Amino acid sequence: MKQLNLLVTPTLLLISLLYLGCKDKTPTKTTLTPVNTQLEQRVDSVLALMHLNEKIGQLVQYNGRWDATGPSANKSDQYKLEKLKKGEVGSMLNITSVATTRETQKIVMEHSRLKIPLIFAYDVIHGYKTIFPIPLGESASWDLDIIQQSAAIAAKETAASGIHWTFAPMIDISRDARWGRIMEGAGEDTYLNSVIGVARIKGFQGEDLSLPHTIAACAKHFAGYGLAESGREYNTVNIGEHELHNAILPPFKAAANAGVATFMNAFNEIDGIPATGHKVLQRDLLKGNWNWNGFVVSDWGSIAEMQVHGYAEDKKQAAELALNAGSDMDMESFSYEGFLETLVNEGKVSIAHIDDAVRRVLRVKFELGLFDDPYKYCDETREKNDIYTTEHLEIARDVAKKSIVLLKNDSKLLPISKTVKSIAVIGPLADSKDEPLGNWRAKGEYNSAVSLLEGIKNAVSPSTKIYYEKGVALTIPTVKPGDNQFSHPLKFNNTDTWGIHAALEAAKKADIVVLAVGEDAYQSGEGRSQTNISFFGRQQDLIDAVYKVNKNVVVVLMNGRPMDLSAINDKIPSILECWFLGSESGHAIADVVFGDYNPSGKLPVSFPRHVGQEPLYYNHKNTGRPYNSKIVTYSGYTDTAKTALYPFGYGLSYTRFDYHNLSLNTSEISKDGKINLTVEVTNTGDVDGEEVIQLYIRDIAASVTRPIKELKGFKKIKFEAGETKTIAFTIDAEMLQFYTANKIWEVEPGTFHVWVGGDSATTLKSEFKVTE
Ligand code: NOJ
Repeated sequence: MKQLNLLVTPTLLLISLLYLGCKDKTPTKTTLTPVNTQLEQRVDSVLALMHLNEKIGQLVQYNGRWDATGPSANKSDQYKLEKLKKGEVGSMLNITSVATTRETQKIVMEHSRLKIPLIFAYDVIHGYKTIFPIPLGESASWDLDIIQQSAAIAAKETAASGIHWTFAPMIDISRDARWGRIMEGAGEDTYLNSVIGVARIKGFQGEDLSLPHTIAACAKHFAGYGLAESGREYNTVNIGEHELHNAILPPFKAAANAGVATFMNAFNEIDGIPATGHKVLQRDLLKGNWNWNGFVVSDWGSIAEMQVHGYAEDKKQAAELALNAGSDMDMESFSYEGFLETLVNEGKVSIAHIDDAVRRVLRVKFELGLFDDPYKYCDETREKNDIYTTEHLEIARDVAKKSIVLLKNDSKLLPISKTVKSIAVIGPLADSKDEPLGNWRAKGEYNSAVSLLEGIKNAVSPSTKIYYEKGVALTIPTVKPGDNQFSHPLKFNNTDTWGIHAALEAAKKADIVVLAVGEDAYQSGEGRSQTNISFFGRQQDLIDAVYKVNKNVVVVLMNGRPMDLSAINDKIPSILECWFLGSESGHAIADVVFGDYNPSGKLPVSFPRHVGQEPLYYNHKNTGRPYNSKIVTYSGYTDTAKTALYPFGYGLSYTRFDYHNLSLNTSEISKDGKINLTVEVTNTGDVDGEEVIQLYIRDIAASVTRPIKELKGFKKIKFEAGETKTIAFTIDAEMLQFYTANKIWEVEPGTFHVWVGGDSATTLKSEFKVTE
């Protein structure tokens, strides 16, 4: 109440008393359901005081002028200021720092009639200023604890900067490497996206949203955005009902169950209906069947874009369709503020729907404690002390090293001895202190990451000679350092090969070459779809030339999507997938390169042999004509194998894990029965290591065809050298059920296959039957 008490208008006094009278001392749970009656009373007490324009105002979100993350709507600052003063804005995005958020909140608190605090939002996707690996990379850790920890640190830094709400996690299933936003999620698998999404939500929101270090999360983009046709950004999505329910929606259901405070809908249409205007998804399923009581924010301008889709005649109709479909807050499309009042007066939008939307927004503001203190996130001391701390950087290094995937290590070039005589560190990304921050880097400072070169120099013995050469530049700089990601058109260096000669000289002199290649940080992210997923610029020339003079090459990849590695895979002996690992990138890579950390990451996406295979995902259907090497009339390609180059779940270690003695305690269960599965796993090498033990299941025949296998569980376990452990899983109805022809989730009787192994191509298999 601190700040509110300073303001003494009669209305405010009344509201203050209402809040005080109902103040609930018990910690507010992150889970927004079941309903907290006292909270609902407080929400209703505010709602009862609101005029229609103020209610609509709560459903309006404006962009701050600093950091647009979408096309500008051309509304002046003065216009927005007046609206803030009238209490006709509920939220702002892209406003950061304690000083600015306080200044903006003050406008509302000092001028508006009801003084309902703003909620400030920002895209904190993989860290605020301490930058963690891009979400796709972090997902490769398959380590839910560290994923939750990294989100918690991001929340702490965000909250310390005055912001209450992040637009994360993205839990869109992404099967197409061409789609630039594949970098933002947990990849192609439904189960992995569900559990990682929940870990991120728990990290952001903590146990209690009202605690000062927690922020509201946002499950996005509801729904289907990741299936954009041909991987082209914002493109049409056509997906059948069963696939939607079985493959795309479960991570969102898990997020709703975990109490995520908000959802964001999506730019795409699904089978002719824009997600923003999708009543069946938002009002009926999410808010109805799932009984979720947070609020849905539109994506940037997506309400007005329904006109462009050809779904709404004009902006007014767009507002009507969106609100009625269950989109509660309008991000920067100015449709709600312009037309909702008329629509209510004309009876096209009911006041009940408006009230429901406002209640949802107020609920989250109460949960965050903003009514108790609208400035509770405005604390300069926290802003000074809680951001980019040594402790946060140490954790970022830990998360980063665990996100690295060892793709190839023929002739055991890795790990390199720290006392090796000489290393040539080559490549356009080797000395970069900026690319490792990746896209969506929030407040990650330009050039602030530890480069690979720095990481290597810090790790090796004083006697080791390092030769560094860039070789080629990947891009030609077109914008000022630190420019907004959307003002960042890329121009690739397709001609300049002047540095290759010096790189070859370095490679010839060295015992081993570490070659850092891949993508520019801004090749992936929003609006960054590509038809080509191999090496841009003259990188391939550099790789080929270096390999000719020195065969001991370790390729370190930095990239935001699965790449086509076919041009290097046959020859380069060692390949490390390092994504964009964030602030501590160079240290983390050095930890793995020199064996201080034994790599344990596993791919959350399939890596293709050719871009033409995309969308490529392991959990596809069998078809009526699955692969048969003897005839051409099978489902495959005549010029490329059908399989991935590196399958989902794949990743090597400096040791080896053998799987044996897969056993089930019974071969038959009833629909609600359970099976205890055990498997023995042995670390057969002479170093300790961690393995992600993966469980896959297939329902052999069903009322709706099922994928050839699906991940249903995993465990990341540490093994000492030589150690054998018995690993147990319980197979239950949760793992066997799916959205059937009856349009409900249920287990169908029949035969099931089950596999356990270190990746999705595992062949260690058993089977069981489910009876009625
Ligand atoms: C558009 C993106 O699709 C969404 O993910 C993001 O949160 C908003 N812009 C706000 O920046």
